[in-house]
Amino acid sequence: MDKELSSIHYDQYLQLQKILDAQKLRSVEFKKPAHDEMLFIIVHQVYELWFKEILHDIGSVMNLFSEGSVEESDIGIAISRLDRIVKIQKILVDQIDIIETITPLDFLDFRNYLLPASGFQSFQFRQLEVSLGLKRERRISYTQCSYSGVFSDEEQKILDGLEAGDSMFDLVEKWLERTPFLQFEKFDFLEEYQKSVNLMHDREEDDINKADYISEQEKQFRINMLAETDTYFKSIFDVGIHNQKLENGELKLSYKATISALLINLYRDEPLLRQPFMFLQKLIDMDELLTTWRNRHAQMVLRTLGQKIGTGGSSGYDYLKKTAEQHRVFYDLHNISTLLIPRSFLPELPIELKEKLNFSFSKKH
Ligand code: HEM
Repeated sequence: MDKELSSIHYDQYLQLQKILDAQKLRSVEFKKPAHDEMLFIIVHQVYELWFKEILHDIGSVMNLFSEGSVEESDIGIAISRLDRIVKIQKILVDQIDIIETITPLDFLDFRNYLLPASGFQSFQFRQLEVSLGLKRERRISYTQCSYSGVFSDEEQKILDGLEAGDSMFDLVEKWLERTPFLQFEKFDFLEEYQKSVNLMHDREEDDINKADYISEQEKQFRINMLAETDTYFKSIFDVGIHNQKLENGELKLSYKATISALLINLYRDEPLLRQPFMFLQKLIDMDELLTTWRNRHAQMVLRTLGQKIGTGGSSGYDYLKKTAEQHRVFYDLHNISTLLIPRSFLPELPIELKEKLNFSFSKKH
């Protein structure tokens, strides 16, 4: 062993005394011991520890993406860190099963001692939301005060700093905007894609018209539905429509970044796009699991409190349910699926571009 290194005991290394000494039951302090308060505290503490690890990992991924360009090997690292976060999030969702072992009546034994403490005051949770890219103006608010008003001045400054800087969403958007290959020599991705979309729609309309097992009325209905899906495609063919949607808050991802994300999704089988595709998938997984947690937490709150207001002063279930719908950050990445077309309609890439997207040692080309 290195001479400079001193040995350390398990207990010391993990500072267990501090951690194990940190469960102070208010119900005991007020001489009305409530058995389940121990679990309530421990579950929250475990959450906060996991939040700490998630922030540690997400911060490192943001660092990798904050340089002007991202190395291929760094995308691999980012994928594994996000994958770890996703696995932790699954545990965060599962832990709600444990908190639900506290029945509503047992919760009432100590609820009053918590006032006005609430998960609403979890600084790490807010750090996570802001780091991912949840903007102040998109937040559901239930009081006149800002969401950060419950924190100390120092903590508010940290949140302000995070909001002013690039979030994970901003960094991913910039990275997508730098994606090459949208225009490669004579190959214009968007132009070719538009031809394929038109072809696909003509074919679908044709198939509906030719089908002899459905009535004329049903045919017309289906053709109208087809025209409606067309509107999803319109904004990808018209930067003006896209920007309009950005302005009115329907979309968040810039036009160029959206096209790049589409290209990566459509040509994910090309070796060079495989990693970027996996990376986008991990972001979607994270976003989905955070929404799952929000829904699961809201459901648990309904079961525990019914329509009672929360200790933090919100309407409780109704407020939480709305956050699950509106606090999603990478919604536009989920929505890329609307724009996907079957592989059989994919525009063929010029051989030179295919070579560029392949690893140089591949024998196929
Ligand atoms: C019996 C268990 C729980 C109940 C009844 C409960 C209830 C609530 C309520 C009513 C709110 C809305 C704010 C308010 O008015 O207080 C809230 C927010 C929150 N709770 Fe819980 N909670 C429970 C467990 C947990 C656990 C285990 C965590 C894990 C850290 C947690 C994290 C949060 C967070 C982060 C928020 C803020 C959500 C947002 O504003 O989007 N809660 N909780």
